[in-house]
Amino acid sequence: MLWPGGSEGAVSDPMDLFRLDGKVALVTGAGSGLGRQFSEVMAEAGADVACADIDAESARATAAAVEGLGRRAVAIRCDVTAEAEVEAMVARTVQALGGLDILFNNAGIADPEALLLHEYPTANWRAVLDVDLDGVFFCAREALKVMAGQQSGKIINIASIWGLAGSSSLFPALAYNAAKGAVINLTRELGLEYATRGIQVNALCPGFYQSNLSRGAIDDPQVRGAINAFVPMGRIAEAAEIKGPALFLASAASDYMTGQTLVTDGGCLAK
Ligand SMILES: NC(=O)c1ccc[n+]([C@@H]2O[C@H](COP(=O)([O-])OP(=O)(O)OC[C@H]3O[C@@H](n4cnc5c(N)ncnc54)[C@H](O)[C@@H]3O)[C@@H](O)[C@H]2O)c1
Repeated sequence: MLWPGGSEGAVSDPMDLFRLDGKVALVTGAGSGLGRQFSEVMAEAGADVACADIDAESARATAAAVEGLGRRAVAIRCDVTAEAEVEAMVARTVQALGGLDILFNNAGIADPEALLLHEYPTANWRAVLDVDLDGVFFCAREALKVMAGQQSGKIINIASIWGLAGSSSLFPALAYNAAKGAVINLTRELGLEYATRGIQVNALCPGFYQSNLSRGAIDDPQVRGAINAFVPMGRIAEAAEIKGPALFLASAASDYMTGQTLVTDGGCLAK
């Protein structure tokens, strides 16, 4: 069935395409920034939400916000770089909320220092790749064990515009950009692998949104000015502005879309 509640091509209320009643979403990095927004919009659209973060307290705060929106929630402490913790996170989601329909593969970190390659320490490279690439792999693999069995699901990998372009005209972000580029092609591959199994895998590529990750740059008036000048819309987005694109990718509204990247960047990559 293409359209919920109707026959193919007929839709009683197009807004129903965005409803997530009865669905279970899992958000990694749910305690802050965009992850908090993903968790909230899932709940606002009717889903129950597993809120996972390496920081247990912030995961609990997001879970409380989900419950405040009238949905069921579970807070899970999980480091996405640890395979056993990722396995336990998915198992706990299914056990506490009764399934898993939507994964926001969102947990991420930035390069610890803005260094060029000839001075870039291996430890920084490993740390960023561990979270931003290996974490995405571990979480997708574990979620797909559930989704492949039920022949349905949505995975939204949070990449970045810096997975599609180099950032060095503003600041060097070597490992981050490498990881995000890999996430985008992993998304294409997973989209194809599961295309006939009822599972859609897409990447969301934000530009500049207010969050803890971007705070260091945004709090510096010089960098903020440079970013505002770089963004065609002339401003950094509020974190909540990610909700619409996120809901689109998590809902039936995007059922015929897989392996794709959705760029939400105030026009940066249109230049
Ligand atoms: N904010 C932006 O402008 C922007 C732009 C492009 C992409 N992104 C991407 O969005 C995602 C979310 O970033 P954000 O901006 O909300 O940053 P943020 O720092 O506000 O939130 C990231 C969250 O991930 C958690 N986290 C970090 N390492 C983890 C780990 N190993 N296991 C589990 N959780 C972990 C943190 O505790 C934090 O709660 C990241 O993948 C980031 O690369 C953000």
